[in-house]
Amino acid sequence: MVVKLKLGVLASGRGSNLQAIIDACETGAIPAEVLVVISDNADSIALERGKRHSIESIYVEPPAKGKKEEYELQIVEHLKRHGVELVCLAGYMRMLSNTLLDAFKDKIINIHPSLLPAFKGLDAQVQAFDYGVRYTGCTVHFVELGMDSGSIILQSVVPVYQKDSKEDLAQRILEQEHIIYPRAITLFAEGRLELEGRKVIITEE
Ligand code: GRF
Repeated sequence: MVVKLKLGVLASGRGSNLQAIIDACETGAIPAEVLVVISDNADSIALERGKRHSIESIYVEPPAKGKKEEYELQIVEHLKRHGVELVCLAGYMRMLSNTLLDAFKDKIINIHPSLLPAFKGLDAQVQAFDYGVRYTGCTVHFVELGMDSGSIILQSVVPVYQKDSKEDLAQRILEQEHIIYPRAITLFAEGRLELEGRKVIITEE
């Protein structure tokens, strides 16, 4: 029997990466299962997606000013209650503080729609499009305090074509996100990611 890595997913919006992860778990493509979905947005499609798959899907009200620790402690409690071993940020629109980072040290990963360290922050696809790069892509990385700055696990390169609209480009990147995020989770589940300084070494199977 395959031992499944227990995942908790934090998402604020559309949840297409969450869906890709759930699907990969359910088809057995990756040795993992999503036990809890947490959102700071009560109306997020991500929460609906979780519920549709009978996954506990929880809205945690965003923190008032100065209350971030209490807010993150609630999230930590939900994650721990489910025995979560890896936290996946999937379109989660908040910076993490040490409350979450310390509780899940080197066990939080994120997907970002650019080839980091280029185009950090919001609307990375539009930043790349407007800059006029020929290639952009997406990155799965460990999460640390700085924005989009943690150690890189996987990247996928996406070409930018002259006829592209911003939407075309974002869609092409998203398709790659849905491929590399489950792949990165598999590498983590198989214990094949080793941190050497800020570099991630992918060990042999
Ligand atoms: C994705 O582009 C992801 O890279 C970024 O936020 C977006 C979330 O999309 N972090 P979705 O909610 O997974 O559809």
